[in-house]
Amino acid sequence: MRFSKIVGLGHHVPETVITNAQLSAMMDTTDEWITERTGIKERRWIDPAKDTVANMATKATRLALKRANLTEKDIEFIVFATITPDYFFPGSGVLLQRELGLEGIGALDIRNACSGFIYALSVADQFIKSGMYKTILVVGAEIQSTAIDATTRGRNTAVIFADGAGAAILQPADKPGILSTHLHSDGRFAEELYVRDPGSSRPREERQPEQILDTTHFKVVMNGNQVFKHAVVRFMEVINEALNANSMKKEEITLLVPHQANLRISQFIQEKMALRDDQVYNNIMRYGNTTAASIPIALSEAWGEGRIKENDVICLAAFGSGFTWASALIRW
Ligand code: COA
Repeated sequence: MRFSKIVGLGHHVPETVITNAQLSAMMDTTDEWITERTGIKERRWIDPAKDTVANMATKATRLALKRANLTEKDIEFIVFATITPDYFFPGSGVLLQRELGLEGIGALDIRNACSGFIYALSVADQFIKSGMYKTILVVGAEIQSTAIDATTRGRNTAVIFADGAGAAILQPADKPGILSTHLHSDGRFAEELYVRDPGSSRPREERQPEQILDTTHFKVVMNGNQVFKHAVVRFMEVINEALNANSMKKEEITLLVPHQANLRISQFIQEKMALRDDQVYNNIMRYGNTTAASIPIALSEAWGEGRIKENDVICLAAFGSGFTWASALIRW
């Protein structure tokens, strides 16, 4: 039987650091409110003159390739998770393929928001197991700062979401590797965290330029309370699902890398599951919530810090817009 394993990890975040104090100068908020409610102290915002989702993804990919001792030419397929593609269409997968100079290879875009990276990993895992490809690039990358309403009107989301990119390279292995992945969704809650535009549900007469300036077009709508309540339940469920599927106990998790939604959510899960501090990785304090990029950035940082070693059991878990939620259990 053929399995897949992650052979390289990389990440890239924009240079510009935006602190809570800087946000307080733009809108009615405070460092205390943001820290207490979300755990975030600072985040990265792109320079629109320099950065794109695809070029941040390219930088993350180059680091992952270097760490894996591979080159661009080894990549046979791209799975790209983002909800903030450079264009409404085509997706950023083909733009990354262009930047890497890999004309002709397939590029698939995944738009499952905060769960996007695990969905992407799961798709890549199946392609490797089936023997279709030998080297797959899996990316999560987002630019949210350009859509943020950086005024008091948008403060409930502007302080949370941020920019960054992470990449993983998958190759076949004789033993796992990726032990299992678990994917879920519940569209009844789609409008609890969503951006309506430029969706096709908007009638043509509402899309005229003069209408767009003064409406909720492009605004992130989030019912924070609902998201929080569902997140804590689904995170726990899907982590336990992964453990049960592999007959493992929570004590066997070397490192849980949760999607960096909100530090309070991660702490809640840690407490409920009675995990030690060294069993949970958080970096939301420095990067905010980078949606599909948060798990690969955290994984890449954790690996770079020596927190992930051979044979370790790594659990990835995510929850987000959709609602969608997912987990992956990996033997490194
Ligand atoms: N600064 C200061 N005050 C703010 C604020 C900000 N950035 N954002 C909202 N507020 C205000 C609200 O207007 C409200 O004021 P009011 O009581 O006068 O109406 C008050 O703070 C409380 O708002 P509420 O939304 O009830 O706060 P909360 O305790 O639920 O915290 C979140 C808000 C968003 C931090 C919290 O709901 C949360 O973390 N939810 C999960 C969100 C998440 O993880 N999203 C990503 C999923 S992938």
